[in-house]
Amino acid sequence: MIEAHHLSKTYTLVDKEAGLLGSIKSFFRPKKRYIPAVKNISLSIQKGEIIGYIGSNGSGKSTTIKMLTGILYPDEGQVLINGLDPSKARTAINRQIGVLFGQKSHLRWDIPVIESFFLHAKIYDVPDSLYQERLKHLTKLLELESILNQPVRNLSLGQRVKCEFAAIFLHQPAIVFLDEPTIGLDASVKELIRNFIRTMNQEFQTTFLITSHDMQDIESLCERIVIIDKGQKVYDGSLTHLKKNFSKVKTIAFTTHTAIEAPLKAPHLEWKQLDSHHFEIHYQTEHLNNAQIIQLAFAQYPIEDVTMKEITIEQIVKRIYEEGLHD
Ligand SMILES: Nc1ncnc2c1ncn2[C@@H]1O[C@H](COP(=O)(O)OP(=O)(O)OP(=O)(O)O)[C@@H](O)[C@H]1O
Ligand SMILES: [Mg+2]
Repeated sequence: MIEAHHLSKTYTLVDKEAGLLGSIKSFFRPKKRYIPAVKNISLSIQKGEIIGYIGSNGSGKSTTIKMLTGILYPDEGQVLINGLDPSKARTAINRQIGVLFGQKSHLRWDIPVIESFFLHAKIYDVPDSLYQERLKHLTKLLELESILNQPVRNLSLGQRVKCEFAAIFLHQPAIVFLDEPTIGLDASVKELIRNFIRTMNQEFQTTFLITSHDMQDIESLCERIVIIDKGQKVYDGSLTHLKKNFSKVKTIAFTTHTAIEAPLKAPHLEWKQLDSHHFEIHYQTEHLNNAQIIQLAFAQYPIEDVTMKEITIEQIVKRIYEEGLHD
């Protein structure tokens, strides 16, 4: 469905000093700066996959999506979307894809939602009977009944995003790119949107590429993730595999009744004091287990409380950003 080979994109910026003089100077002698946003990224995505595309702010996610959807042309590399090149077959591609950029809207601001939908269906040549059928299905799944006749400007953010999703699916695209789809939504709308994505994926084998800073979106939807850092791909594989590798080291946190006096020393573990009554033990799961760690701690300190700490996907991603991927 998506084939990208060695994509690269560098933005050129012109720095301008303030004021009219600055503008004149910059006109005659522009000071250029180059920002390499995406470097040599290749991706191969099959029909029906839901890919989590993650990376810190400014790592190049949106730039990649813009190149995959034909909004931007890559400086180097090639893209094929369902066999078509976005830079050559823009109209044909538009019928196959749906794109949602968290903050941007497909809908007309001052006409009722239902009329925006109708317009969207006309633009995409959706036959009337199919339009009615899809509208009914989408209205039910996204709970839009009560807002269809309201103008978009009167909708809350959550209501508007639900309508954006409905609009995208009126032409039933094969591939959908979602750039931070759940940004600013409350927990219940997030859940509704996630269920909707799952349903569309199951019913129509829709392929999704999703960027999100909300790791719950990623964990609940994506089996495969791609992590990019400073424009480069650093991981492409299953989420479970990544978690398993990173949980080679586990952490248990302890609280003591009295002030801690001496560090605990033993092979294959790292002891870390947090304050006078709290410490953590990081240990390697190949050599030690929970029970042994707890025994060691109880033998040396008057323990009041014990907490097991599971590594979260947030921590994994943070560690990859900070230290890179070693394994
Ligand atoms: N139109 C543009 N002109 C110049 N530089 C740009 C432009 N768009 C993005 N950039 C720069 O390219 C880099 C990558 O930006 P991009 O928007 O792709 O990141 P992102 O991963 O989507 O980040 P975020 O998580 O904050 O949305 C950043 O350094 C950004 O400042
Ligand atoms: Mg972005």
